[in-house]
Amino acid sequence: MDGVGGAAVVLVIVTVTMMMRSCVSDPNDEACLREVAKSLEDPNRSLQNWIEKNLAKPCNDSISNLQGATCNNGRIYRLSLNNLSLRGTISPFISNCTNLQSLDLSSNALTGPIPPELQSLVNLAVLNLSSNQLHGQIPPQLTMCAYLNIIDLHDNLLTGPIPQQLGILVRLSTFDVSNNRLSGPIPASLSNRTGNLPRFNATSFLGNKDLYGYPLPPMKTKGLSVLAIVGIGLGSGLASLVLSFTGVCIWLKVTEQKMGQDEGKISQLMPDY
Ligand SMILES: *[C@@H]1O[C@H](CO)[C@@H](O)[C@H](O)[C@H]1NC(C)=O
Ligand SMILES: *[C@@H]1O[C@H](CO)[C@@H](O)[C@H](O)[C@H]1NC(C)=O
Ligand SMILES: *[C@@H]1O[C@H](CO)[C@@H](O)[C@H](O)[C@H]1NC(C)=O
Ligand SMILES: *[C@@H]1O[C@H](CO)[C@@H](O)[C@H](O)[C@H]1NC(C)=O
Ligand SMILES: *[C@@H]1O[C@H](CO)[C@@H](O)[C@H](O)[C@H]1NC(C)=O
Ligand SMILES: *[C@@H]1O[C@H](CO)[C@@H](O)[C@H](O)[C@H]1NC(C)=O
Ligand SMILES: *[C@@H]1O[C@H](CO)[C@@H](O)[C@H](O)[C@H]1NC(C)=O
Repeated sequence: MDGVGGAAVVLVIVTVTMMMRSCVSDPNDEACLREVAKSLEDPNRSLQNWIEKNLAKPCNDSISNLQGATCNNGRIYRLSLNNLSLRGTISPFISNCTNLQSLDLSSNALTGPIPPELQSLVNLAVLNLSSNQLHGQIPPQLTMCAYLNIIDLHDNLLTGPIPQQLGILVRLSTFDVSNNRLSGPIPASLSNRTGNLPRFNATSFLGNKDLYGYPLPPMKTKGLSVLAIVGIGLGSGLASLVLSFTGVCIWLKVTEQKMGQDEGKISQLMPDY
């Protein structure tokens, strides 16, 4: 009897939990998506179903009515809004979607920084923000997302160094920061295989003018090649020669004119005979 009673109680609890799940949305997901919607501009009206009714309940159990969102167990776990001509910025409140495993906002026209708040997304495995106009630095806080498999940030306007700490992401299998404005040395932790850390080849780093070190060429020798220095030396020598020559010419001409004028003055002063 006790066993049956216990089973009944468990059944009731499970049923109630399931009902609650399908009726009540997660307040964090709700806050997250509302803020994400606010910070995005959607000139092509690609997110037409991101309306109040759906934002108030982003997950109907495992289904989301929001384009690009995917749910699992009543929580948002994937957000794929790529190639939709979206503008605006990435809201730091994205960090409220705490079950997010995949964030793909690639191939839009997003500006602004990559929010360091992404560090709260401890389940994040895929981060694809490629082909946007994001600027600022790559946040070193991304190392807090220990499950990251893919970091794809190629084709943006990112500056500053590649954070050395990213090398400790043991699961990282794809890393692409090509075609940005990054500078400084490539961290050895990302370029060289040490232990079982992955290693990324030059393809991952190309198209950043001031990035250097293996697997790219070493730092350019401070300033200029010998040929350039010789060229500049000769050039400036010639230029100063021409300049001083012109200077002398002008001086001569001016003096000549002055003398002429003085002569004129003198002749004016001279009484006419
Ligand atoms: C969302 O994130 C912010 C900042 O991390 C936090 O203060 C807030 O409690 C979270 N949840 C909601 C529902 O806003
Ligand atoms: C949620 O899903 C159920 C069953 O699939 C459906 O009947 C209901 O209309 C959906 N609710 C919303 C708000 O979409
Ligand atoms: C991006 O969207 C445009 C317009 O809808 C389409 O023509 C193009 O094929 C898409 N590109 C990719 C890579 O999906
Ligand atoms: C958005 O609209 C622009 C101009 O109307 C068009 O060129 C572009 O292909 C559209 N993008 C998508 C993803 O539909
Ligand atoms: C990121 O998205 C772009 C285009 O949207 C795609 O071409 C690329 O393969 C994706 N990166 C990875 C590592 O899957
Ligand atoms: C990478 O490893 C090779 C040998 O395995 C070494 O010669 C090279 O200096 C290392 N590069 C960096 C940047 O540590
Ligand atoms: C670099 O690595 C990528 C992915 O691991 C691979 O597809 C590509 O062929 C490699 N390129 C070179 C030049 O080795």
